Amino acid sequence: MFEKEELERIEKGMENYESQVEKVKQKFPERKEKFVSTSGYEIKRLYTPIDVSDLDYEKDLGFPGQFPFTRGVQPTMYRGRFWTMRQYAGFGTAEESNKRYKYLLSQGQTGLSVAFDLPTQIGYDSDDPMAEGEVGKVGVAIDSLKDMEVLFDGIPLDKVSTSMTINSTAAILLAMYIVVAEKQGVPLEKLSGTIQNDILKEYIARGTYIFPPQPSMKIITDIFEYCSKNMPRWNPISISGYHIREAGSTAVQEVAFTLADAIAYVETAIKAGLDPNIFGQRLSFFFAAHNNFLEEIAKFRAARRLWAKIMKYRFGVTNEKAMRLRFHTQTGGSTLTAQQPLNNIIRVTLQALAAVLGGTQSLHTNSFDEALGLPTEESAMIALRTQQIIAYESGVADTIDPLAGSYVIESMTNEIEKGAEEYINKIDSMGGMVRAIEMGYVQKEIHESAYKMQLAVENGEEIIVGVNKFKVNEEAQQRKILKVDPQLEEKQKQELKRLKKNRDNEKVKKALKNLENAAINNDNLMPYIIEAVKVYATVGEISNVLRKVYGEYNETIII
Ligand code: 3HC
Repeated sequence: MFEKEELERIEKGMENYESQVEKVKQKFPERKEKFVSTSGYEIKRLYTPIDVSDLDYEKDLGFPGQFPFTRGVQPTMYRGRFWTMRQYAGFGTAEESNKRYKYLLSQGQTGLSVAFDLPTQIGYDSDDPMAEGEVGKVGVAIDSLKDMEVLFDGIPLDKVSTSMTINSTAAILLAMYIVVAEKQGVPLEKLSGTIQNDILKEYIARGTYIFPPQPSMKIITDIFEYCSKNMPRWNPISISGYHIREAGSTAVQEVAFTLADAIAYVETAIKAGLDPNIFGQRLSFFFAAHNNFLEEIAKFRAARRLWAKIMKYRFGVTNEKAMRLRFHTQTGGSTLTAQQPLNNIIRVTLQALAAVLGGTQSLHTNSFDEALGLPTEESAMIALRTQQIIAYESGVADTIDPLAGSYVIESMTNEIEKGAEEYINKIDSMGGMVRAIEMGYVQKEIHESAYKMQLAVENGEEIIVGVNKFKVNEEAQQRKILKVDPQLEEKQKQELKRLKKNRDNEKVKKALKNLENAAINNDNLMPYIIEAVKVYATVGEISNVLRKVYGEYNETIII
């Protein structure tokens, strides 16, 4: 990008500048000895053309909507359509969550994102002893199709795209969503949305797994196959780095382990006879946006470029649409502080801005009070307004990838891509991601990063405003905290009892038997699960059939 002579002149100038810096530092030492990014890379005092001297526009950046997609996945990006404002929400009963969804949509939210309670996520009904104390707590309680009908009552599924954060029981909740749409008269091919369906990160970081890796991967591939054939607009997986980052990984590890998971999914789907040129178009991703603004922007750009290269060169994909890394971002929940909670509005704004400058397709902004409890309507609205102000008032959505060409952003983009590639090569040498997880390698890397980061906060190297600096004596402020009604669990159990009494239990039994046989015969489970939910078989009943066939996963690290 720069002439040799010009670079030589800059190099000369650099020496000059360095000696000037040394003089100034005698009197005004810099804040820190060394400045490093979360990924441990040194952040230089000054970046110049020398740092990007070998940057090749066509090869390394290209045009938005074209390989390697560094600058974005769409030719017109936000000039054509803003990112989807998609607030993760759900708590208590289907009725309460339905109300919150309608409120958010009325406030200008442009996509739905369903949070399920833990029993639903790990395949227990609300009346299961394992569900005690968790019903409707971290998300909405869904036991049967009936709850799903209430959850989406009055919400036209052909007009909204819905994301569901569901993994081990993803096939069941997708089946329920399909049947609700059918009842609304919405054809399958019109349904737009995403299921997270990313089991590998559950073993790594989030923990809502049920079955061992192999059967879990088989169910995921069943869903890929079913959606490829019947739901052209549905994203059957949201390969997540968010929880990996939230568990304490660095930005580089977040990219590396997410893309390594993605490689495992693509390999498994190809082995099952699926074409990556087809299913690759509907792979979607999910990352966090944390505090280090410049590093986060570079992280998203690096991930897009690296994934495009992996699909093209490693898997020989020829369809450019299948090389695009389309992703959702959630601002970093773990960066929210309970101290001086209003400060979180500023943190979330910066993180959301980083996601937008990084080219996200969909965004959730955390509410400022989430370190204290469930978001109130007020805090959820401020979170949404944050996105709307960035979109409509800041101007950053009016031109594409505005920070491209910045010496620091392009340097960091290169560094992160290289660091992630090194991790992926290492995981390949261990026999792939499933193996690396079974050996505990990935978890160990994350734990070590988390430990270092925590140490840095504790020794004051890392400043968290309001927490280890600029603290105030906060009387327990009488802030409105949304709590789930303790009566809810009882109410949900009564509803379930009534449902089991009124449904046709012969049909349920038969559907569950057919599902069991399909699992034993290694058939695609989707059609059988759809039949079972149609007759109001529950999440727990269906999960128990599969537990019986596949067994449950107990994490034992293979050394
Ligand atoms: N020009 C032309 N077309 C454009 C365009 C442009 N500039 N911009 C967008 N479009 C088109 C797209 O191509 C798409 O068309 P299609 O439906 O035919 O494909 C349509 O407009 C919608 O655009 P996107 O697909 O970009 O946006 P979506 O919001 O629909 O999808 C996604 C985004 C990332 C691909 C999708 O997978 C998604 O929505 N993911 C969300 C996942 C999510 O919300 N997860 C929450 C998890 S919460 C969690 O786990 C945390 C908890 O554990 C604590």
